[in-house]
Amino acid sequence: MSPLTFVAISGSLRRGSHNTGLLRALLRLAPPDVAIDHFEDLGALPHFDQDLEDRPPAAVADLRRRVREADGVIIATPEYNSSIPGVLMNALDWLSRPAHDPSLRAKPVAVLGASPSQFGTARAQLVLRQVLHRIQAPVVAHPEVTVFRSHGRFDADGALTCDETTEGLLRDLLSGLIHLAAPTSTPSRAHAPGSRPRSVQVQA
Ligand SMILES: Cc1cc2nc3c(=O)[nH]c(=O)nc-3n(C[C@H](O)[C@H](O)[C@H](O)COP(=O)(O)O)c2cc1C
Repeated sequence: MSPLTFVAISGSLRRGSHNTGLLRALLRLAPPDVAIDHFEDLGALPHFDQDLEDRPPAAVADLRRRVREADGVIIATPEYNSSIPGVLMNALDWLSRPAHDPSLRAKPVAVLGASPSQFGTARAQLVLRQVLHRIQAPVVAHPEVTVFRSHGRFDADGALTCDETTEGLLRDLLSGLIHLAAPTSTPSRAHAPGSRPRSVQVQA
């Protein structure tokens, strides 16, 4: 089977972002036959304009092409005002159009997030899942990786201090995405998903 490619997007533009750090930790766990295309130009996307949906600006065309060519997408979202950041919603709007052929439709997606609060982006992830449902992009159901009290989980270089539980959840999320993108893949090509459905927060 040919290698899989996933586009990875952090919903934060912030230097030292916990979500970008979380995403990087996940990317390090990818098996050798999974290629990751880390999209880092979220801030370069212009505001969505429906007049331009059929002749998109270059930055949008680039993102759409990368998503279309990928086998799946990974989105790490911050929580802003109990929802997802505007920059992320803007990207999703571009990826949801034109209505007859949106690049994100039917594309498997894994979602995760980190927040300093007790809720670890649980509310933002609900919103994100709802948006992806509308776009008809299937989302990995389990595990729900909601990294709470994230300010205590990164070292001075911005790297996630990954304990065994955290690493296991990130591996399970990745395996769930691989399974959704290539249902016929054998468990040996990646860490097999947990046998029990899990909805687990990363523990302190
Ligand atoms: C505009 C704004 C709104 C926020 N709203 C929430 C919120 O509703 N819930 C929450 O847990 N954190 C909220 N936060 C705090 C963010 O979770 C925190 O800044 C987080 O570190 C952002 O993610 P990042 O580190 O990846 O940039 C908010 C932050 C900003 C800037």
